[in-house]
Amino acid sequence: MEPTDVSSETNKRYIVHPGGKITGQVRVPGDKSISHRSIMLGSIAEGTTEVTGFLEGEDALATLAAFRGMGVDIIGPEKGNVTIHGVGMHGLKVPETALNLGNSGTSMRLLSGLLAGQGFDVTMTGDKSLSSRPMKRVTDPLALMGANIDTTEGKPPLTLHKTSHLKGIDYDLPMASAQVKSCLLLAGLYAEGKTSVTEPAPTRDHTERMLQGMGYQVEKQGRTVSVVGGGKLQATKIDVPADISSATFFMVAAAIAPESDITLEHVGVNPTRIGVINILREMGANITLSNEKVTGGEPVADIRIQYAPLKGIQIPEDQVPLAIDEFPALFIAAACAEGQTVLTGAEELRVKESDRIQVMADGLTTLGIDAQPTADGIVINGGVIGSGEVDSHSDHRIAMSFAIAGLQAGGSIQINDCANVVTSFPGFVELANKVGLQVEEIDD
Ligand code: S3P
Repeated sequence: MEPTDVSSETNKRYIVHPGGKITGQVRVPGDKSISHRSIMLGSIAEGTTEVTGFLEGEDALATLAAFRGMGVDIIGPEKGNVTIHGVGMHGLKVPETALNLGNSGTSMRLLSGLLAGQGFDVTMTGDKSLSSRPMKRVTDPLALMGANIDTTEGKPPLTLHKTSHLKGIDYDLPMASAQVKSCLLLAGLYAEGKTSVTEPAPTRDHTERMLQGMGYQVEKQGRTVSVVGGGKLQATKIDVPADISSATFFMVAAAIAPESDITLEHVGVNPTRIGVINILREMGANITLSNEKVTGGEPVADIRIQYAPLKGIQIPEDQVPLAIDEFPALFIAAACAEGQTVLTGAEELRVKESDRIQVMADGLTTLGIDAQPTADGIVINGGVIGSGEVDSHSDHRIAMSFAIAGLQAGGSIQINDCANVVTSFPGFVELANKVGLQVEEIDD
């Protein structure tokens, strides 16, 4: 099996030089969530799935390596193209070693569901950050379905024991989580009867859309989504749009730096992902969408952002799950806005790749911004960003967020522990420098 652990001995640090503006027309890498799902569903489909626009970042590559480890013939990725020779619902083979999923929570949580009913034992491990993330949110409902999974005090490594059969359940999600919803729907494909998941608020629905695109019936009623086990998936073509979560860094960059004007091409604008657009617009950002179309069941558009002054807002709680990965960057927008921004209802941020509330509050404070963490959010008073040294805690999105803060900083910002940027955004530094940032990458 290919090594997937990105917490290697070499680390990286960024030095961001102050000032600049953002201009140009670029396409950021492929959507991480859709890339993961293309490999997972393509692998258990019948026939050959052709993927274009695949994210060649470490997280999606960890999923790809895991399925290769279970005997799936996968060609690529080569310039975003991947060909998956599906083995059908019951064709996966017992992996020879544990599946190492690196930094990727999505891989581990979705695979827990997909593998729970495979009829073989399998262990899944991850890097230091993944090993500290909560897994009972998936193993508890999977146990109700009949799965037999050992955790390590509720965290990875996980060992899934062979189960004779799973049964469908009706489950109310205790938190808004697309990973938990997807995990249970994937287990539901292998369960007897119907599996229904009810979410407290809408979350990204890429799993549901892709299942339907591959011919699997998915029933939706209000906030409840259901599948009946025992069906089949038909291979298809999957066009992965650019990731709105990666586009966010340049959207916020253009929103905070005077005279900026950037267009981000072919970005996924699924309504369950556009919280960042809604929030930035409410803060006063000038955002226009063009070339809107639907490709492979997912809405896409070109997003143009031109600089306009931002103001602080109370972030509507219904936008939180729709912008869940975008908050580190949005906190930089808040730091540059006039007035106060208040976020509530976002306690999930504390259990991402890092505690994103605390780590961002610490970094912003170091840079001279008044940022007060709360149990479920943060209060940020817009101000003047200074210079200093901040730590990303090996969280890719924290590292990239502080990089764009450099545009409005009074001096250089050093960001430590940046190696994990490759998990979601390979080529970030090159692209950032191309559009107007001044980021130096130093190997430690
Ligand atoms: C994801 C769901 C979200 C998100 C993560 C990707 C997915 O996690 O933060 O980056 O692909 O389903 P949660 O389900 O934990 O909110």
